[in-house]
Amino acid sequence: MQARQQLTLMEELKTETFASHARLQTAPFFQALESCHLPLESYVGQLRALLAIHAVVEQAMVDCVDDRVHSVWSADMGKLPLLRQDLKYFEPRTVADLKEAVDVAMQTTGALRQQSMETPLALLGWLYVLEGSTLGTSVVQPLVARAFLLVGDDGMAYLRNYGAAARARWTEYSQRMNTLALETGERAQITLAANELFARLEALFCALYPFQSESKAYLAASINPEAGRHPVPVDVREVQASIRAGDICWRRFPYFAARYGERGLGFARSDAAWQATLYPYPPSQVLQQVQWLGRVLAARGMPTLLLQVQLEILVEELAAAIPERRADYEKLLPAAAALHAARSRFLTDAQAQDLAAAFDLAVGPEWRARFPQTGSLLSAAVADECGGCEKAVESVRTWMTDVRQFPAAWIDAVEGTLAQARQQAAPKAKA
Ligand code: HEM
Repeated sequence: MQARQQLTLMEELKTETFASHARLQTAPFFQALESCHLPLESYVGQLRALLAIHAVVEQAMVDCVDDRVHSVWSADMGKLPLLRQDLKYFEPRTVADLKEAVDVAMQTTGALRQQSMETPLALLGWLYVLEGSTLGTSVVQPLVARAFLLVGDDGMAYLRNYGAAARARWTEYSQRMNTLALETGERAQITLAANELFARLEALFCALYPFQSESKAYLAASINPEAGRHPVPVDVREVQASIRAGDICWRRFPYFAARYGERGLGFARSDAAWQATLYPYPPSQVLQQVQWLGRVLAARGMPTLLLQVQLEILVEELAAAIPERRADYEKLLPAAAALHAARSRFLTDAQAQDLAAAFDLAVGPEWRARFPQTGSLLSAAVADECGGCEKAVESVRTWMTDVRQFPAAWIDAVEGTLAQARQQAAPKAKA
């Protein structure tokens, strides 16, 4: 038998995880799939959980400080666009979440996030598992097509992934792995991480099938798998209205899409759905929750103007979906008004409008059309900063003044608007 130290890294990984793979492969999930008994909730739940896991792993790859990880990983190995495409395909069917599976997915993402900071090489173990699963998809994909009557890429883009090139891609990936310079202890870290992820996936697939009917629920994960299990409305019409509200707000501020991409759209939708659950609470609690979310978002580059507008749109969309509940939904409006009032203490509407108009003039028609409302966002960020959100301006400024994205005239206009807004707001902030 080949001595352990003579094995390549890939041979060692295969040997060390052989039993884990065998257990996973025989999970009831795959048996039910083969006999066409797998419920759609299980399949879609799998896609959602994998999206949450890949979001963490793929971001950790980009952020990783170890060059060896970068020499193996390349962006074209990413599965997020494929998983998003599949979930979009199933969106019209409003498929319920499975609570236990969402829990396992969230525990997994929490653990992976933590471990990627403590043991960056663990990423190579997880990548082995996730990339290796592309080899099994030639077996799994036809079963999914048969069980759910799917054709082409419909709901199966993730499974089809590299298609006929899967073997060749695996060989190239294996070569990159096998040429890494690793200490014995580091190899052990990688195989341990691979086995840990296999174990977590096994728990996930067991939670996905079989499941009790009580496990079915509409959680945030059904809208945005990365949002986990915070509540969303029980009424499907309210869920759909929330999704529409997120989308409308998203389109109204193209800054959102340009900066946060598809991931941001997911959060715009799931946050709106969470806001839609608030109206039955006493006004003071609604306000408290909205203000809390407003502070969190403002510190991450989303001034409270965005949340205010989203709430206003949400109320309209909810009321359009279920007109007899309009009075209930309108209970959210005072919280939107409070966000506005908090900013108005430092910059009046007239001042904010003048700043926005001057900004649009300075950047010219092309850039104004690309990023409408930027002047308003900048003055809102300044007002949020004066209101106590320390990072509100910096979190917007860093992106808006990135020389790789914007011409000098734009950057000057951003800096100028921020300076003027601060000048106008400062006396009131001191008062
Ligand atoms: C999420 C579930 C799965 C994961 C994470 C997974 C993971 C892996 C990994 C890491 C490998 C690479 C092994 C190596 O080092 O060569 C692999 C290979 C393979 N897997 Fe899976 N797998 C999964 C499910 C399945 C299922 C359900 C099947 C079939 C029913 C399957 C069939 C295969 C096959 C045929 C290979 C190629 C083995 C070879 O040619 O050596 N896998 N899988």
